[in-house]
Amino acid sequence: MTSAAQVSKSGAREAHPEHLGHVIFIAAAAAMGGFLFGYDSAVINGAVEAIRHRYDIGSAALAQVIAIALIGCAIGAATAGRIADRIGRIRCMQIAAVLFIVSAVGSALPFALYDLAFWRIVGGFAIGMASVIGPAYIAEVAPAAYRGRLGSFQQAAIVIGIAVSQLVNWGILNAADGDQRGTLMGLEAWQVMLGVMVIPAVLYGLLSFAIPESPRYLISAGKETRAREVLAEVEGKDIDLDARVREIEHAMKSEHKSTFRDLLGGSFLFRPIVWIGIGLSVFQQFVGINVAFYYSSTLWQSVGVDPTESFFYSFTTSIINIVGTVIAMIFVDRIGRRPLALIGSVGMVIGLALEAWAFSFDLVGGKLPATQGWVALIAAHVFVLFFALSWGVVVWVFLGEMFPNKIRAAALGVAASAQWIANWAITASFPSLADWNLSLTYVIYTVFAALSIPFVLKFVTETKGKALEEMG
Ligand code: GLC
Repeated sequence: MTSAAQVSKSGAREAHPEHLGHVIFIAAAAAMGGFLFGYDSAVINGAVEAIRHRYDIGSAALAQVIAIALIGCAIGAATAGRIADRIGRIRCMQIAAVLFIVSAVGSALPFALYDLAFWRIVGGFAIGMASVIGPAYIAEVAPAAYRGRLGSFQQAAIVIGIAVSQLVNWGILNAADGDQRGTLMGLEAWQVMLGVMVIPAVLYGLLSFAIPESPRYLISAGKETRAREVLAEVEGKDIDLDARVREIEHAMKSEHKSTFRDLLGGSFLFRPIVWIGIGLSVFQQFVGINVAFYYSSTLWQSVGVDPTESFFYSFTTSIINIVGTVIAMIFVDRIGRRPLALIGSVGMVIGLALEAWAFSFDLVGGKLPATQGWVALIAAHVFVLFFALSWGVVVWVFLGEMFPNKIRAAALGVAASAQWIANWAITASFPSLADWNLSLTYVIYTVFAALSIPFVLKFVTETKGKALEEMG
C-alpha cells in the first residue's frame, strides 16, 4: 500500500515529498563524518613542512608520520562494521566524533613526534569508522528511489572537507604571515591547522543526537516499535508499516547470521560479494586519485608553477572535484551506478594516458616542455573530473547498499579497510615510483583504470532503485 508515497519508474518506493526534506537532513548530518574524513586526510598537507622542521626529521620519517594515519584508517574501518552491528550506527558515529575531538586536540598539542604520530593514528581510526558508518547508515535510512543521491552526500562531504581544509590552511597561513611555524593565538600555525578540526568534530557529535537509529539495525536488535517509528518518519506514515517491517525481517531471517565468519565463504576466503566490494575499493585507489591530492606539488612544479602558489592550483583541483561530484549526484539515480562507473573509467584512461605521455618527455630545468606541460595540467584535471563524476561517488554508494542487510556493516568494513590499505600502498609508493619513472607510474595507473572496465562489466550488478532487501 503506497497510496501517498509515490512509485518511481523503477518500481521503488519514493518518500513522500514532505518527508524528503527530513531525510535530506538526516543524510547530511550523517555525512558530516565524510566531511571530517576529507578534512582530516587533507589538512596534514598544510602542516608537513612545519612538522619536518619542528622535529628536525627527513622525508622518510615524515612520510611515515603521514602514512601511519592511513593504517589507523584501515583498522578503524575494519572495526567499525562490527561496532555498528553490536551497539548501533548512531553510537558508532558518537564514538568516531569523540575520537576526532581528542585526536584534533592531541595532534595540535603534541609533546613529541611519537605523540603526534599516536594522535594521527587515533584520528585515522576515526576517519576509518566514519568511512564505513556514513554510507551504511545513509543506505539504510534512504528510500530506494533517492538512495544513490542521498548516498552521494558522503562523497560530496568528503570533497567539500578536502576543499575546506585547503581554504582554512590558507587562511591560517596568511594570518601567520605565510609561515607554517609563525605564531597565532599562542600556537604555531600548523598546530592551529590540526586543532581547528575540533569544530566540525563537535558538530558531528551533536548532530548524531538529532538523527534516528537505522530501522534495519533496530529490527535486527529486536526494537521493532522504534523501527516502525523511524520508518514512518523517513518513508511516510501512510506506507504499510507492517508490510515494511515484515519485508525487512523476512529478508534478514533468510540471510546469513552476521559475524565476521559469515563474510567468509566460497572457495576464496570471503563470499564473492565481499570480493566485489574489495575490488571496487582497490580499483578506486589504484587509479592513483590520491596522488593527485597528496602530491599535487610534484605536478605543479614540473609545469613551472612556483611552489608558493601551489595552494591556488590545488584548490582548483578541489573545485573540479566538487563539480564532478555534483554531476554524479544528478545522474546516479537516473542513469545508474554502473554506467557512471564505466563512463568514468573511460575518461580516466584518457586523462591518465595523456599524463603518461606528457611525463615521458625529459624535464628541462626541472620543467616539462611548454606543450607537454599544458597537456599534463589539463589531463590531470580531466582525470580528476572523470573520477569525481564516477568512481568517487559510485564506490561509496555501492558499498553502502550492495551487501545484504545482515552483513552490510561488517562487509563494508572489510571493503573500506581494503580501500585504506590500497590508498596507503599507492601514496607510500608514489615518491619512489616517481623517482624511478614518472611516465611509467602513470602507465600503471592507466592500466588499472582500463582494467576497471571489464571488472565492472563482469562482476558488478546495478543497484539503482532496488530495495536493500533485494541485495546479495
Ligand atoms: C574518494 C576516495 C578518497 C579520495 C576522494 C577524493 O572518497 O575514497 O580516497 O581522497 O575520493 O575526492
